[in-house]
Amino acid sequence: MNDHARRMDGIYHVQRHFYDATRRLFLPGRDLLLERVGDGLEGAVLEVGCGTGRNLRILARRFPHVQFYGVDISSEMLWTAKRKIVRSGLTNIHIAQGDAQTVDPREMFRVERSFDVVFFSYSLSMIPDWRKAMEMGMGCLGERGRLYIIDFWDQQGWPGVVRRLLVWWFGLFHVRYEPGMIEEFKSLAEKNAARFDVYSISGRYAFLATLMR
Ligand SMILES: C[S@@+](CC[C@H](N)C(=O)[O-])C[C@H]1O[C@@H](n2cnc3c(N)ncnc32)[C@H](O)[C@@H]1O
Repeated sequence: MNDHARRMDGIYHVQRHFYDATRRLFLPGRDLLLERVGDGLEGAVLEVGCGTGRNLRILARRFPHVQFYGVDISSEMLWTAKRKIVRSGLTNIHIAQGDAQTVDPREMFRVERSFDVVFFSYSLSMIPDWRKAMEMGMGCLGERGRLYIIDFWDQQGWPGVVRRLLVWWFGLFHVRYEPGMIEEFKSLAEKNAARFDVYSISGRYAFLATLMR
């Protein structure tokens, strides 16, 4: 277990018990993300940093013919995810522990095919080398695949004092927005001949970015 995994387990050891009930307000736009993921969905989907599996369970219920895969570095979060998946009776969700900076999900889950959709929901901002995680995501995406990232943005539409307070608050959870991130997504999209789109949520509190091959 590396230091980052220990940090994540430290954050979620207690929080995982009330995570799903308390994140509706702080992590807006996830339902919009799931709507977009679900558009014409077939095949296989990967969530990087799946946490308690909230997103995967919603999708797996809506799309029983699709296989869903989730990777997360925190075994604490995955304990909760596993319990909730078993309780839900859903059999098309597969989760495993791994670091998005180093993992090869296709090897990990023994899937030969590429993923039709890969998404990061409020996880990229917690991953120290997020560029590596993005490369990994792009690398296991199929030819006509789609990659989505929803995460905290720079809160430019908010008063300065609130913005500073939020940055401090996010820091407590090892969450950060790196200026220039969106520009880098755009370059990555160009390099991979993908269309790029970014959508602001609540005055740039968060963004939803799409890279579509
Ligand atoms: C804020 S939670 C989001 C969980 C879920 N995606 C959601 O929308 O509710 C961030 C998740 O990213 C995971 N994470 C952080 N760094 C990671 C890494 N390097 N590799 C895989 N998962 C990571 C954390 O353990 C945590 O479960």
